Amino acid sequence: MGMRRGLTLSLAAAMAGTAVWAHQGMKHAAAPEASPAAGSRALARINEAYLRQVRPIFFEKCFDCHGSGRPLPWYSRLPGPRQLIQYDIRTARKHLDMGRDFPFGGHASQLEHLKALEEVLKDGSMPPWRYRVMHRGSKLLPQEIAAVLAWIDEGKKLLETKEGGHDR
Ligand code: HEC
Repeated sequence: MGMRRGLTLSLAAAMAGTAVWAHQGMKHAAAPEASPAAGSRALARINEAYLRQVRPIFFEKCFDCHGSGRPLPWYSRLPGPRQLIQYDIRTARKHLDMGRDFPFGGHASQLEHLKALEEVLKDGSMPPWRYRVMHRGSKLLPQEIAAVLAWIDEGKKLLETKEGGHDR
């Protein structure tokens, strides 16, 4: 158990590392005052902070349904749970797909994604109860909630300054 967790964590670090790398390449190529890039610059800044302070938390506690690259839990082999889990994953990603970092996939604008996230963090509805029962310790800790909320606040400010978050 401890070993698997360690492995998962180093995998997360490795993946985050790759993404940061790719991003630094992009930043280098961008001209200082390239004007239509203001929106994508805001998104890139939000993603930078996301990779640092939010993704490791979401990877552990949300990616089973909203992301990718996590092996399915053992009980997904049971016929009943299997259907339920597949339904969960499909629905969760349709609403909010964290699989390719920020900007998120899904049907909403990025500003709406941030507001939806803020809501579930405050009402404690994610991860869903049925998941928390099977995954002890998947509930978000107070300090994790605080870290994610701080990131959301920053992100909302960056997106709201440029006309309502039409940013996908
Ligand atoms: C067991 C699977 C599962 C896990 C784990 C899970 N979610 Fe979800 N999530 C869902 C499903 C299914 C929906 C869509 C239906 C609903 O709202 O219940 C959803 C919806 C959401 C929404 C609403 C999106 C929208 O546009 O309405 C947010 C925000 C969200 N999840 C955040 C999170 C966060 C943050 C975590 C981790 C702390 C998390 N979820 C963990 C299954 C999951």
